[in-house]
Amino acid sequence: DLSSNYYYLEKEDIRKLLKNRSKFSHKGIYGHGCIIGGSLGKMGAVILASRAALRTGCGLVSNLTPTCGHQILQISHPETMVIMDSGEENLRDFQLPQSYQAIAVGIGMGTSEETERGLGLFLQSLDKDQALVLDADALNLLALNPHWLGHLPENSILSPHPKELKRLIGEWDSDEDKLMKAVDFAIAHKVVLLIKGANTAVINSEGTVYFNSSGNPGMATGGTGDVLTGILAGLKAQGYTALEAALIGVYAHGLAGDLASTELSEEGMIAGDLINYLPKVWNIVR
Ligand code: APR
Ligand code: MG
Repeated sequence: DLSSNYYYLEKEDIRKLLKNRSKFSHKGIYGHGCIIGGSLGKMGAVILASRAALRTGCGLVSNLTPTCGHQILQISHPETMVIMDSGEENLRDFQLPQSYQAIAVGIGMGTSEETERGLGLFLQSLDKDQALVLDADALNLLALNPHWLGHLPENSILSPHPKELKRLIGEWDSDEDKLMKAVDFAIAHKVVLLIKGANTAVINSEGTVYFNSSGNPGMATGGTGDVLTGILAGLKAQGYTALEAALIGVYAHGLAGDLASTELSEEGMIAGDLINYLPKVWNIVR
């Protein structure tokens, strides 16, 4: 409904939300995040998200991927650990050896039948308070299996791009209609829902809407969404609430894009550049 509140998200808002790291802290304080995704030919998404989580301050990062991703990931970033699923080219079992402070699932995962079945069982098995980020193919599979919505932990973060959003909430006639349908969805399913694009909207589970002010069209390039997924997981792992993580995450992601475009141009920047600018982002917003 249109009685929802609307906010415009700027640097000052983020500064107030950011926590300082205590002098005596250790990596256990900053959480262990697990990025679940990848399939044959789409491991890049997991690489991008993992590196983004690391550059967001997450204490430890693990990956769960099909067997074919093992060497790719171990070689591409020595800072993470890799857990192998028994599926060779697609995720099948979704078996995790331990608990994690945050789990992000879906990127580069594909929508094979075995992955669909495994994801359904995985979502059913989650603790009610598990911090969870769902993106990309996890959202596509969720749209095909709407009864899974009942298994999602409250305040899971869902980060669809426009096509993924359409699969979740159905067609819309106008931007207002889209926003209303998205607000209804976030309230009905008690999730934090993003509408990605220029001025990404963050909608909390009470239906409040926050429009992001950072970002530029240089970010319309493959893999930038995967970077956001990693940032969101990294923030959730550090104990931010889902709303805080979404607000800090979309703003920091957009600012990384703005720093990248200033130096590298909108045409020249690529998703990996956003990750390289994240360290500067955290200095600027603090
Ligand atoms: N202005 C500002 N930000 C933008 C703009 C723009 N004009 N265009 C895109 N972005 C940002 C979005 O807000 C979002 O955070 O870039 C990101 C794009 O994310 P995705 O659309 O999810 O793209 P990406 O994940 O990189 O695509 C790779 O993953 O989700 C699947 O189907 C998708 O095949 C695709 C793959
Ligand atoms: Mg995406």
